Amino acid sequence: MPASSAIPNRQLTLNLFIYPGGHHEAGWRYPGSDPQRLNDAAYYQELAQKAEAAKFDAVFFADGPALPDNIRYASRFRYEPLTLLTAIAAVTSRIGLIGTASTTYYEPYNLARLYASLDHISGGRAGWNIVTTSASNAGANFGLPENPSHADRDARASEFVDVVTKLWDSWEDDALVADPVSGVLADDAKIHAIEHIGRHFRVKGALNAPRTPQGRPVYVQAGSSDDGRSFAARYAEAIFTAHQTLASAQSFYADIKKQTAALGRNPDHVRVLPGISPYIGSTEAEAKALFEEFNALIQPAFSLAQLKQMIGLDLTGHDLDGPFPRHLIDTSGPLGVASRFRLVLDIVDREKPTIRQLIERLAGARGHYVVVGTPEKIADEIQTWFENGAADGFNVMPPWLHGGFEVFAAEVLPILRKRGLFRTEYSGTTLRDHYGLPRPDSQFATAERATA
Ligand SMILES: Cc1cc2nc3c(=O)[nH]c(=O)nc-3n(C[C@H](O)[C@H](O)[C@H](O)COP(=O)(O)O)c2cc1C
Repeated sequence: MPASSAIPNRQLTLNLFIYPGGHHEAGWRYPGSDPQRLNDAAYYQELAQKAEAAKFDAVFFADGPALPDNIRYASRFRYEPLTLLTAIAAVTSRIGLIGTASTTYYEPYNLARLYASLDHISGGRAGWNIVTTSASNAGANFGLPENPSHADRDARASEFVDVVTKLWDSWEDDALVADPVSGVLADDAKIHAIEHIGRHFRVKGALNAPRTPQGRPVYVQAGSSDDGRSFAARYAEAIFTAHQTLASAQSFYADIKKQTAALGRNPDHVRVLPGISPYIGSTEAEAKALFEEFNALIQPAFSLAQLKQMIGLDLTGHDLDGPFPRHLIDTSGPLGVASRFRLVLDIVDREKPTIRQLIERLAGARGHYVVVGTPEKIADEIQTWFENGAADGFNVMPPWLHGGFEVFAAEVLPILRKRGLFRTEYSGTTLRDHYGLPRPDSQFATAERATA
């Protein structure tokens, strides 16, 4: 078995990936999901407090600057993540706060201010999930005829990350003086205009806020295609990913760690975090019944729309209990490079499902790993991936909320703790502390030191 990292007393990184109503596409309909509260900030604040009480590393909010076209059946409306995370920061003190923001639909200076503010306000708990927004209907909200191509989005994303990194470094750590006696508020020799001129951006800088507690928010990324992996190897400190099998997760893990090392980075400073969606029962049969109960709530119109988003094929009108029409899939199209497309194709080729079996499979967590079983079985799966070079931890994706998380915290965490695999107490205060990541120096301070 491929070795995992050599970190002594290595422990799991666990994030709570929050989706309104839960990750099963019909999770909001499950008894106890309280859908009337999805539009109430306290619903999310309380959930984050529960994750903090469980000593989780972070809460994570996905995002896209457009209303999904299948809102009729699914709880896919969203608060803007940083606004919500700031409300959560006010009622928590240790849990990390990871929010998504798009390099395609933000300007670097604005985004830099938002994450710097969250990191200051939270005492160093901010994380940025860097996405380029693959949602095809986003461009129309920004005056674009269509969503820019994968390649254009990626090119802009690299320059974008370079610019915001310079902005977060533009104040050296000791630039803020605040000395009423001398009357010096800031040592402006330690505040640097970044003077960035690039293909996509011209940004003078400096940022209009002092350097943050973490120096920079934690850089998270979630792309798994070849382009996505090379971007991750260059920038990411945590990588969210979706895998159906141990083997697929192991090959991704090994590739990312190899690419990161090849760029001279420490592979232990990149946390690989697959998604896991647990359906927990006190017996196998009970857990299976729970999973079936959720699938009985799905609405095929929504599931087929979601499948179309992943593989570009609309199967409306096809016999759901007939074999999946593999021959209709166009592997040469633009979707063909995307990791989720490949993941669905692998399921079809490996398991030869009917259309209904496939949509039920994806209903659980959109292609992320669904585990159905007793708390021991869930803990065993987590331990196997963790100890065999497939994961440094997980994005936990409860099928429904808050109940699905409460069961995981009450039933699975004690087993993981008994096995020494998860913390019993926080040992640090920032997200970088929780993830075991170094605090980066300001590149301007480093440059100064180099020429001194
Ligand atoms: C756990 C996870 C979370 C993601 N969150 C978002 C998100 O919030 N917003 C978004 O536009 N894309 C999100 N994505 C999609 C990725 O950013 C990326 O577009 C997708 O994985 C395809 O990447 P690829 O083309 O490199 O395969 C997420 C993906 C994963 C695995």
